[in-house]
Amino acid sequence: MRLLIDDADMGEIRRLYDLYPIDGVTTNPSILAKTGRNPYEVLKEIRGFIGKEADLHVQAIARDAEGMVKDAYAIVQALGEATFVKIPCIPQGFKAMKLLKKDGIRTTGTAVYTPMQAYLAAKSGASYAAPYINRIDDMGYDGIHVAKEIQDIFEVNKLDTMVLAASFKNSQQVLELCKYGVGGVTAAPAVMDKFVNNAAITAAVDVFVKDFEKLAGEGVSMAEL
Ligand code: G3P
Repeated sequence: MRLLIDDADMGEIRRLYDLYPIDGVTTNPSILAKTGRNPYEVLKEIRGFIGKEADLHVQAIARDAEGMVKDAYAIVQALGEATFVKIPCIPQGFKAMKLLKKDGIRTTGTAVYTPMQAYLAAKSGASYAAPYINRIDDMGYDGIHVAKEIQDIFEVNKLDTMVLAASFKNSQQVLELCKYGVGGVTAAPAVMDKFVNNAAITAAVDVFVKDFEKLAGEGVSMAEL
């Protein structure tokens, strides 16, 4: 399962890349707006940091298929071929996905709230479909269940498209999909910080260190012995 950061803050991206096995970065227009900076300037900085092979997902803004295709060309030209163009799963979006598939530009079907949207994105040639787990929960449905249904639909229909689940509020939701074998998840820094967040874990490590220090002296680790 690919693990991506859903954010555009370079400080957070650097911090999380330093700690965790991260495969790339996803952004959306709202995330970019939070930076208050020129979007291409931010995205080029992210690309420069993560490297030209890493996954970077960037959303097209136009509302019609022709405009989405133009956005896609501009995005890939500026940010490289390893960039997935996020296309909203609306009727014009499916048309854009079909056109971009023919041109060899990879897309991520985004704003997915229903399995039918994901199915159509896959049939239209998208590499990923991104169900919004928490936003689906907030509508009174079960976001994890929807993501699992989409995974099942892809498997049953032998579609190559992968689930890239997004919009999480806690680490348990991420783990649920990890167990189910989806293609990827993208999580905000605040959610990633909860992946390993348990007083019992910290306490166990503290006891190991303190016991060792009784033997070797305070602040002494294996490297100093
Ligand atoms: O990029 C779409 C998704 O990540 C949105 O997440 O947290 O704004 O619901 P959120």
